[in-house]
Amino acid sequence: MPKRIDPDTETVTFTFEGQIIRARPGDTVASALAASGIRHLRDSAVSGEPRGIFCMMGACFDCLVEVNGQPNRQACMTPVSQDLAVNRQNGGVEVKV
Ligand code: FES
Repeated sequence: MPKRIDPDTETVTFTFEGQIIRARPGDTVASALAASGIRHLRDSAVSGEPRGIFCMMGACFDCLVEVNGQPNRQACMTPVSQDLAVNRQNGGVEVKV
């Protein structure tokens, strides 16, 4: 499991599924969740299987989450900021035209 080398410098907080997550300035949502031991970020729209971080560079889209009510946000490309509300994305998201 990913682990902080120096865990005492976390000064930003946000929530994931209502749970308070401590992060460092400069973290992405994905890195902060990984450091907190959270691996299950969404469920596949096709199989329903759990998905989590894979590439950590915006290429695979396995890390999609809902951020402040906005679906399909890549956790690995989203910087943390105070008071983000992040939720697991379950299955496909309806596209409104
Ligand atoms: S982990 Fe691959 S796009 Fe985020």
